[in-house]
Amino acid sequence: MKRALFLLTAAVFSSGAFAADADVISINAEGRFNIPANYREWVFLTASMDLSYDAPVPEAPANVTHMLDNIFVNPAAYKAFVATGTWPDKTVMIKENRRAAEAGSISTIGKYQTEMVSMEFHVKDKGQWAFFASNGKNPGRPMPADADCYSCHSTHGAVDTTFVQFYPTLLEIAKAKGTLSADYVKTEAAKK
Ligand code: HEC
Repeated sequence: MKRALFLLTAAVFSSGAFAADADVISINAEGRFNIPANYREWVFLTASMDLSYDAPVPEAPANVTHMLDNIFVNPAAYKAFVATGTWPDKTVMIKENRRAAEAGSISTIGKYQTEMVSMEFHVKDKGQWAFFASNGKNPGRPMPADADCYSCHSTHGAVDTTFVQFYPTLLEIAKAKGTLSADYVKTEAAKK
């Protein structure tokens, strides 16, 4: 059975069904990450509110009190994750950080999303991940290797330095495929 599954997976990969999205990673002459024009047509993973990482969001104005985020991933990488429980090369994950407004239009309570405060990018190629950050308009600045993006994601991300524990449908897939990091599994087990 295992062997049959392996052959099936190999066949799917070699048939090009998961061929990387064309030009998904584009770096300009200054080494900055060009924001993909159509990323809002990509696969939506989650929206979270006011998650605190104990670190300010780069480029965020100080007067933003509540924030909502939206996370997108390119379709080819998403399909590969569904098949394997982890990320292939040419994965691009985009996090929009948006101001949360309240009591606008017909709403009297609750929060809804308004303008972009900043954008963050997590990009995998040649087996390596890189982080970039932008104000949402300009191409993403590469984050230096000692930036806390790398340490927090590698210490706490549930799958391959990404925060799959916050993406409910992907978490179920990672559990089924057994791709959760050993540290994440240990930390969760200790809570029980
Ligand atoms: C202290 C921990 C921490 C730090 C530091 C941190 N992040 Fe994250 N990051 C998270 C968490 C938690 C999530 C899940 C967010 C959600 O569900 O909205 C996340 C999600 C992301 C995602 C979505 C894809 C993924 O990997 O899951 C991107 C892109 C991202 N962060 C970029 C950055 C960048 C760029 C930096 C540095 C400038 C950074 N992060 C610093 C905790 C951190």
